[in-house]
Amino acid sequence: MPEATQRFFDHRPESVKAARDFTTRTLRAWGLENTGDIRLVVSELATNALTHGSDSEHGFLVRLEPDDGGVRLEVHDSRDLHQPLTGPACPDPEAETGRGLVIVDALAARWGIDPRQPFGKIVWSHFPTAPSATTVRAAEEVRTC
Ligand SMILES: Nc1ncnc2c1ncn2[C@@H]1O[C@H](COP(=O)(O)OP(=O)(O)OP(=O)(O)O)[C@@H](O)[C@H]1O
Ligand SMILES: [Mg+2]
Repeated sequence: MPEATQRFFDHRPESVKAARDFTTRTLRAWGLENTGDIRLVVSELATNALTHGSDSEHGFLVRLEPDDGGVRLEVHDSRDLHQPLTGPACPDPEAETGRGLVIVDALAARWGIDPRQPFGKIVWSHFPTAPSATTVRAAEEVRTC
């Protein structure tokens, strides 16, 4: 069983690609293929961590952990959660933002937010490693807008 691995990223736009590359390399090293969903979700969550979850003083952390027969992805940021974080049910078709968490909700088997000590939060998501399980959930449970 591979060990959990994590990396800290600075507060700069290039860190989103760096986080995606770190995720790709880690999952490949674990022998996992078909990891496009996880890489897309880490891109959205890393972008959110930079845009909404931190100030210029603080970066974010990505942690990957084998979990429950799948992969747990965490993105830690430094801003405390003051209200529930949920994507809009269906973004306005004309809106240019507001789709990131809808994508996360569609691709992850489950996701959520926990407080982080001494401050900040952990946005976590879980992915089964069998691609078919993801497909079944996408077909049956995901909202269509
Ligand atoms: N890490 C975070 N910390 C604090 N607030 C967040 C975080 N992630 C998301 N949010 C809040 O949730 C809202 C919805 O996030 P979402 O990713 O769906 O949309 P967006 O980032 O505004 O736009 P898009 O991802 O489509 O470019 C954000 O506008 C923001 O208010
Ligand atoms: Mg976003």
